[in-house]
Amino acid sequence: MGFTLDKVVPWGRSFAEYVAMFGLSEGDLQLPLLGCGDGPAGFNAELSKLGGNVTSVDPLYVFTAEQIRGRIAETYPTVMDQLRRNRDDYVWQSISSVEELGRIRLAAMDTFLADFETGKKAGRYIAGELPALPFESGRFSLALSSHLLFLYSNHLSAEFHLAALREMLRVSCEVRVFPLLTLAGTISPHLEFVTGQLRNLGYSVEIKRVAYEFQRGGNEMLVIKPV
Ligand SMILES: C[S@@+](CC[C@H](N)C(=O)[O-])C[C@H]1O[C@@H](n2cnc3c(N)ncnc32)[C@H](O)[C@@H]1O
Repeated sequence: MGFTLDKVVPWGRSFAEYVAMFGLSEGDLQLPLLGCGDGPAGFNAELSKLGGNVTSVDPLYVFTAEQIRGRIAETYPTVMDQLRRNRDDYVWQSISSVEELGRIRLAAMDTFLADFETGKKAGRYIAGELPALPFESGRFSLALSSHLLFLYSNHLSAEFHLAALREMLRVSCEVRVFPLLTLAGTISPHLEFVTGQLRNLGYSVEIKRVAYEFQRGGNEMLVIKPV
């Protein structure tokens, strides 16, 4: 895969953040869900504990829990430093400080780490990467992308985004993506191309406001489903 641990900066969000980012209802949480690029987020671990049916796919999962834990410890001070320097780019409301954010992220990643080896054996954590997913067509009801598509628009082309979303739509009836902003905090330059192409392919594509805003202005998700 050419995916080496020294290139990874693990950073994972919590179940509560996923619920807010994607406007997940009680009904949504009962569905077979796929998280693309879930990394060390606590979403899969917490939802599985609640009886949910969720699979996460990420290239990070070729590594062991101990390797990922070591990489988190190595990179955490740098991430915190960057956050302190860019603190004005974020909305400090539900999370009030960089230190509190650090604690929330570490707790989410600890939840993931404690669950990872068991979840991997159970097939809930699958090593793989967009734009080619190792799942049969129609396996999931809802596929999510948190802080991967659009956020890394400088590194991932418009064509990659379209291919990734089409692949997510192959394996799932509905796709939701959050945020629509790049790392620079501006709307992704790929959004218009991707939404236009998906509409031409016959999908319903909507931008919906959600009850979550941490990156300033990042309070919208993309919802794609067949018409
Ligand atoms: C910023 S992290 C987001 C983690 C998690 N979704 C969250 O919101 O807390 C981005 C994740 O995308 C994963 N990733 C990178 N390239 C990918 C690809 N082509 N397909 C799937 N995941 C990928 C990385 O390994 C990393 O775990």
